[in-house]
Amino acid sequence: PLRIAILASGRGSNFAALLAARERGELPVDFVLVASDKADAPVLRLAQSAGVPTTVLDPRQYAERRAYDVALFDRIGASKPDLLVLAGFMRIIDGDALKPWAGRMINIHPSLLPKYRGLHTHRRALKAGDLEHGASVHYVTAELDGGPVIAQITFPIEADDDENTLAARLLPMEHQLLPAVVELIAAGRLALSEEGIRLDGQILRKPLRW
Ligand code: GAR
Repeated sequence: PLRIAILASGRGSNFAALLAARERGELPVDFVLVASDKADAPVLRLAQSAGVPTTVLDPRQYAERRAYDVALFDRIGASKPDLLVLAGFMRIIDGDALKPWAGRMINIHPSLLPKYRGLHTHRRALKAGDLEHGASVHYVTAELDGGPVIAQITFPIEADDDENTLAARLLPMEHQLLPAVVELIAAGRLALSEEGIRLDGQILRKPLRW
């Protein structure tokens, strides 16, 4: 099975969705590590109760981002993952630290990329008067939230939506999207090449829609 390491900073509902998909027999993967930058992140308890090893690296113990990222990825590398999944990891990662993982690291982001990289995506979609919103899963590159987009899930924004209602509608959709993409990777159907993302060997011209 595909060996997966998770990086997460918080609640861990996306990791929970991956665990649940595996429980249902839909995801032939092993979770080899959950790594966090926050010692009190609920995702760590979730991992422990599922018997998944955890590790915490506190950025405050490091003088600079680069040193932190080197230590983090050293530790992650030691568990020999095939794939790194950023599931609510809320730190920017140094480009050099990412390089060895090119094509082997994905992130879920709560916007329809390339719209709204970074934070406050729901607020920004509302402010822009967007008619739809959604989430994206993309390969991670040195450009923040800027790597090739694999798949997106979308839904209409209603007139009375606010940040909270958007977040509440989006989250369960994220929980479908992320396991679906991981399933494609586990099945060996997705790869990142020089020319772009390949699905079943064919270049993907636009993100898959869920
Ligand atoms: C999710 O909405 C995810 O898309 C977002 O954080 C939340 C994590 O929730 N990620 C980012 O904003 C990445 N920049 P979770 O901890 O319950 O999975």
